[in-house]
Amino acid sequence: MTHGPLADRPNNPKVGLPISHESAPGHVTGTALYTDDLVAHTKDLLHAWPLQAPHAHAKITKLDVTPAYAVPGVVRVLTAADVPGVNDAGIKHDEPLFGDEVRFYGHAVCYVLGETEDDARRGAEAIVVEYEPLPSLMTITEAIEAESFQGAARTVSRGDAEAGLADSTYRFTGEFEFGGQEHFYLETNAALARVDEAGQVFVQSSTQHPTETQEIVAHVLGVHSNEVTVQCLRLGGGFGGKEMQPHGFAAVAALGATITGRPVLLRLNRTQDMTMTGKRHPFHAAWEVGFDADHRIRALKATLTSDGGWSLDLSEPVLARALCHIDNCYWIPDIEVHGRIAKTNKTSQTAFRGFGGPQGMIVIEDILGRCAPLLGAQPEDLRRRNFYVPGQPTPYGQPVRHAERLEQIWATLETKADVVSRRLAIEEFNATSEHSKRALAMTPVKFGISFNLTAFNQAGALVHVYKDGSVLINHGGVEMGQGLHTKMIQVAATALGVPLSYVRLAPTRTDKVPNTSATAASSGADLNGGAIKDACEQIRRRLDVVAAGQLGIHPDDVRFVDGVVTGIGFHDKQIEWAKLCHDAYFQRVQLWAAGFYRTAGLHWDANRMQGEPFKYFAYGAACSEVEVDGFTGAYRVLRADIVHDVGDSLSPLIDVGQIEGGFVQGTGWLTLEELRWDTSDGPHRGRLNTQAASTYKIPSFSEMPEHFAVHLFEKATESGVVYGSKAVGEPPLMHAFSVREALRAAAAAFGPEGHSVDLRSPATPEAVFWAVEEARAAAENGSADAALANGSHNGHARTSGEPVRV
Ligand code: MTE
Ligand code: MOS
Repeated sequence: MTHGPLADRPNNPKVGLPISHESAPGHVTGTALYTDDLVAHTKDLLHAWPLQAPHAHAKITKLDVTPAYAVPGVVRVLTAADVPGVNDAGIKHDEPLFGDEVRFYGHAVCYVLGETEDDARRGAEAIVVEYEPLPSLMTITEAIEAESFQGAARTVSRGDAEAGLADSTYRFTGEFEFGGQEHFYLETNAALARVDEAGQVFVQSSTQHPTETQEIVAHVLGVHSNEVTVQCLRLGGGFGGKEMQPHGFAAVAALGATITGRPVLLRLNRTQDMTMTGKRHPFHAAWEVGFDADHRIRALKATLTSDGGWSLDLSEPVLARALCHIDNCYWIPDIEVHGRIAKTNKTSQTAFRGFGGPQGMIVIEDILGRCAPLLGAQPEDLRRRNFYVPGQPTPYGQPVRHAERLEQIWATLETKADVVSRRLAIEEFNATSEHSKRALAMTPVKFGISFNLTAFNQAGALVHVYKDGSVLINHGGVEMGQGLHTKMIQVAATALGVPLSYVRLAPTRTDKVPNTSATAASSGADLNGGAIKDACEQIRRRLDVVAAGQLGIHPDDVRFVDGVVTGIGFHDKQIEWAKLCHDAYFQRVQLWAAGFYRTAGLHWDANRMQGEPFKYFAYGAACSEVEVDGFTGAYRVLRADIVHDVGDSLSPLIDVGQIEGGFVQGTGWLTLEELRWDTSDGPHRGRLNTQAASTYKIPSFSEMPEHFAVHLFEKATESGVVYGSKAVGEPPLMHAFSVREALRAAAAAFGPEGHSVDLRSPATPEAVFWAVEEARAAAENGSADAALANGSHNGHARTSGEPVRV
């Protein structure tokens, strides 16, 4: 048959079936292997242990490793002198693998290899290091004052923001600083390296970007890429935290293996992982916004400063995505947004689900949440009124295709979540409840899909059909729990027209599919799915010819459904798939193929911040209801409803899981998870104080919404994407804005009408308590505009000021 557009589905497709995760039985029985599990299968293994420095910033004046060798079981200490290639763990060459300077508290000075982990740890303790402490910067504010920045500053602009503000009926200004987030993947970073008899290096790594891990290992070892293979079985969660951070760990393991000739494992424990690896970027935002008389956003001027930590890592693209998402779903005619990256003495902040998108979007959502009461508007009305409509472009010049979906999704959500009657119920509840208040809030999401860096939008696959008809697929994507492999099996089965059970998937490795992109930007299924479909269709075209000969029809009229091959419109003559593959082999027809996919129609000018960087936008909206206790600030999420656009889902169970998980992870970021660093001038300045589950709270069952419903937006075929689907991994995280805005509204319910609530982020119970106190104080002052009246100075408060009307 001829193979139609990428989005078209054949009869009886395997995509769209609600099947469970391909490794679910392995996950729940413990048989699914992760990098660290391979230890049991590895002989003569050495364990690596980092020596972490107890300074935020210091010069290493002395490093004497000899005492380590006196410790029983210590085999080798790795230092800068051992590096045959480039002593750097990154692609920006600002991340020495073994530095002569400590750049953050917990920075590894060197690594000890021991027969056991304990031996290596004791060896590290024996090493003598002397430091000369240097001045350090721990906060964005300190960095701004010291003018400590790194990487390129960027600006997105359109029109004349200054003129737009001057032309506005209402103008407000404010500041907002919000926190980062620890990935807290269940599997900490791990790398297991060995060297074969020919010197070939093989690294099993918990990496989202096997190709880049391969490149860094190669440059550290001073060898070529063809001498290093990186394999990733699966990750116990990555969430962006394993996009770049694993490279250095893999390089240490590989270096240890080449030097000792023995396999080396470097697996961080939780504390090491939390104190050594990068997190979501915290940001500071200073803004000025103008609205017209009808409450339409007229202009926005803002400066975003991210805290990049000690090295660049992915800070530049994260900042670019923040700047490209500050508009979220709203048309802003005149806009000027500057972005820059602070350099501080913290872990090197990195990708985290949403990749800067959430940090851009929270700024405009915070602005709308704070300004709505000052405008005398319902926040939901203010949001809806400002939605993009078809034909309007983003500030960086990309048309917002399918903008009408915003309104459709919003209306669907109102119905599904029963918003009108619940508002009445909430009003009734609040009228009689003095010490606890409820509120609901709705927030929308628009998220651009594709890597901003155009070159990353390509993928490869290798599909083998064996003589017995069984199918083995390889692709460049990494499985991190998101269900990519499940979807890829569904795509292959659909494209080949065989049952799911015929298809197996082989581990991701760089010697099978080369030059791959990170599994990131939510585009794993789009890209690898495109490549697998391409490979399968090459095979199908060859099999069409073989089948056509046997059926006596034209190759275009051959149909493959569920492993049975027939012709269009008749079913009396059938060929079994396995028989056809067998016959094809004897006719010397190639039964395997390499597939390739590149996303068409992208263009991005990174310097001007203009172009069409995204293939399409993912849309959605969420409605959350909370109840806040006025005595403590403690709260519960009573109900959450989400309507989300995944195009035509490749795998609905997986997608719903991604939406639920994203929402919960986002809610963790915005409400529970608070990274606290020692910013004092004491002896532990720079130390991450929240370095364990005991002090860093991620969401658990007890914080789940009591009622939680996810609805997939219907009839949503996305043309130009594999089987009409849309990416799902990151966009749902931002539905958590609805929880934050509901908390703001509930706090406001303790105060007078028109009180603008300034809510810290994360909105921990403590933060909510202070917001409630402020609202109550405003009520006591008897002035709805109490906040406004004293706003003129605290509008420039450090954490987040009240919006000031200017
Ligand atoms: N889901 C699970 N279970 N575990 C993860 O690590 N990572 C998220 C998202 N969903 C993640 C996840 C992130 S940050 C991204 S970019 C996407 O999955 C990556 O996978 P995809 O491109 O296949 O959607
Ligand atoms: Mo996801 S933050 O793009 O790995």
